[in-house]
Amino acid sequence: MLKFSVMWLLTMYDGLYRLFLSRFDPETIHHVSIDLLSGAGQFPPSRKLLSSAFSPRPTYVPIQAFGMSFAHPLGLAGGFDKEARCLPALQSLGFSFIEVGTVTPQPQPGNPSPRLFRLTEDKALINRMGFPSTGMNILVNRLQKIGNHVDVPIFVSLGKNKATALQDAVQDYTASLNLLHAYGDAFVVNISSPNTPDLRKLQTRDYLAELLERLMNEMRDLARGGSPKPLLIKIAPDLTWPEIDDILDLALEFVIAGIIATNTTLERPHLHSSYQNEAGGLSGQPLRQRSTEIIRHIHQHTDNKLLIIGVGGVFTGDDVWEKLEAGASLVQAYTGFIYKGPAFVKTALAQLESRMRDAGITQYQSILSGS
Ligand SMILES: Cc1cc2nc3c(=O)[nH]c(=O)nc-3n(C[C@H](O)[C@H](O)[C@H](O)COP(=O)(O)O)c2cc1C
Repeated sequence: MLKFSVMWLLTMYDGLYRLFLSRFDPETIHHVSIDLLSGAGQFPPSRKLLSSAFSPRPTYVPIQAFGMSFAHPLGLAGGFDKEARCLPALQSLGFSFIEVGTVTPQPQPGNPSPRLFRLTEDKALINRMGFPSTGMNILVNRLQKIGNHVDVPIFVSLGKNKATALQDAVQDYTASLNLLHAYGDAFVVNISSPNTPDLRKLQTRDYLAELLERLMNEMRDLARGGSPKPLLIKIAPDLTWPEIDDILDLALEFVIAGIIATNTTLERPHLHSSYQNEAGGLSGQPLRQRSTEIIRHIHQHTDNKLLIIGVGGVFTGDDVWEKLEAGASLVQAYTGFIYKGPAFVKTALAQLESRMRDAGITQYQSILSGS
């Protein structure tokens, strides 16, 4: 019965998507979805309705990572709910953790529209949003108001303003970290968006060493003698292996908690859509394999000392399995959620758990070792 209703919801969304949603400007649809989710999340009855229709009931023990508990491996990637407008509804849709942001210290409009393109034939998106942000003060107000309405871990993604020179970027990251520290469970340094000029240069050794040193000092000060909250770095998929190894060395040196692999790619693998030459970062299915390769590389080169959150092209339970099997402890998705709709988490988790049962695996964390 449950299986039937999930299938029905998916078919409905698929039909609706083909007939209606795919004909409108993707960014307009995004804003409408955020408004609807924000409205639905405000009232206990609508939250309950969303939960009962879409929230999965995981059958395995929660994952322990970063000193927190995650009901299952699948969370929401950065960039969907940049301003924390719909956290209660996103929790009701079953995500086990949610990354808000990327937030910049000062408000900024981002790049001119159009800046988001749907490559339906390729199950992909291209975006050149350029960190549109209402700024850190508004995000703090939102997170304060949410209070105890959300109990999944909240990760906060930090970025820099476009107008901030690269050599002053550290100040942007530390300013947001200071203000938001009390309201996030973990923090992500986003140095891998392809849409803010020169941002990716922060991934190079000299810039990154200074950035990580300052942020980790700040984290320790903010912890006031307790354990610092986890800090993660989100990396680009377009780095070479030696560049990735440099980042891993620094992450180990500064005792960073983990790596999020990966952001969108500037590569254009074989694509079919007429939007394929739009400038910006490509996400979705064409990114899946590269992101998994990077996860495997990080896992093999860091001897389990860094936790990995795998992201890139996750649409199904098999895709979640692939990332966990490559070495990720948790997985995130963005594009898969856009294409699959509100039943995304429930369906992917049902597929993952069915595969685990077939393989005789009794814990999410055992997928990696195959036992
Ligand atoms: C429209 C859009 C906006 C995004 N904005 C951000 C962002 O603000 N911060 C960030 O770290 N990643 C951002 N991302 C990247 C995603 O978090 C994710 O790393 C990437 O899309 C690959 O995952 P996917 O294939 O599941 O989409 C964005 C992606 C899209 C499609």
